[in-house]
Amino acid sequence: MNDKMDAFSKKMADILNHGALNLAMALGYRHRLFDVLEDLGRPATVSEIAGASGLNARYLREWLGVMATGRIVEISPGPDGEEAYLLPPDHAAFLTRKAGRDDLGVYTQEIPLLASSALEPVDRGFKTGEGVPFACYPDFQRFMAELANAGHRHLLVERFIPAVDKGRLQERLEEGIRVCDLGCGEGVALNLMARAFPRSRFVGIDIDEQAVETGRAEARETGLENAEFRVVDAAGIEGMEELTDRFDWVWAFDAVHDQTRPLEAHRGVRHMLAPGGMFSMVDIDAASDHAGNLDHPMGPFLYTVSLMHCMPVGLNDGGMGLGMMWGRERAEALLREAGFEEIEMEEMAHDPFNLHFLCRVRE
Ligand SMILES: C[S@@+](CC[C@H](N)C(=O)[O-])C[C@H]1O[C@@H](n2cnc3c(N)ncnc32)[C@H](O)[C@@H]1O
Repeated sequence: MNDKMDAFSKKMADILNHGALNLAMALGYRHRLFDVLEDLGRPATVSEIAGASGLNARYLREWLGVMATGRIVEISPGPDGEEAYLLPPDHAAFLTRKAGRDDLGVYTQEIPLLASSALEPVDRGFKTGEGVPFACYPDFQRFMAELANAGHRHLLVERFIPAVDKGRLQERLEEGIRVCDLGCGEGVALNLMARAFPRSRFVGIDIDEQAVETGRAEARETGLENAEFRVVDAAGIEGMEELTDRFDWVWAFDAVHDQTRPLEAHRGVRHMLAPGGMFSMVDIDAASDHAGNLDHPMGPFLYTVSLMHCMPVGLNDGGMGLGMMWGRERAEALLREAGFEEIEMEEMAHDPFNLHFLCRVRE
């Protein structure tokens, strides 16, 4: 075996181990085991962890085997020679719900969730080229809302908005403008903004009826009178007279690349924007070609999410199937094709994985 073969065989062992570790960590995250271990705050035996979590000791012992050999938890001798397990604080800082925006544990659920939802239809797609319906991903909106909770809650109002247009967007939101969240999902971001800027009016648009109903219920229950939700296909907005020149700011977070007709959706945004309005599209910061992404720190992960979800849902009904890694060059070209002439691409210090495309419409 030459050095290159030796290195690759080790890499293969890493791949198999890390893939397995991700699956077990996802189960642990789901059962709040990292939170339990952090709360225990000291080496604990299987029976103590079972007591604290209410989970089955035999399953827990096997799971702890994965976590120990994967160097996620540390082992020390416990009472009566039993093994005791500690989640070091340096690891807990990236694995628990308390970690907030540093919580990477939440992402361990993503690949297992997509595999359990769509392995067979994606597998068939390799032969047929067909897309995979949204209905195949029943738990996806819940998961996206969990991610949105982790991300938006900390960053949207405190970091993103104050930086847009050198602070002018924030001033306008405080004075009172009309805002649309396109592809709002369960409305986590929309409801947050509506609460933060009571003088502005917010309309959330999404094609998913159930997600829209969840957002609407949350707005109702929390007494938000400036938040409204509508079920609309973004590709059909251009033909809707009641939405002509309706908004001063449209924002679409992670909501364009998996649409089947993104060009029409962009044209719809142009249609909805009043003169002097702005469109903020926040989407993955990547290159459009593969070679440009070789040094992307999460390249394989993001392409896999795209392969298992974003691309196949975007291929439905003869759709474009852009995929999550469509990249900045392709995104800019599509925005220009839809009629946006002034486009600024801004990196965001608080969110290095996404890029902010700020498009302005002249007065
Ligand atoms: C990845 S989720 C992002 C949701 C939300 N913006 C967030 O940050 O959590 C993409 C959203 O776009 C919505 N969507 C997909 N195609 C759409 C279309 N044609 N018109 C409107 N919404 C659409 C999906 O239902 C989903 O809620």
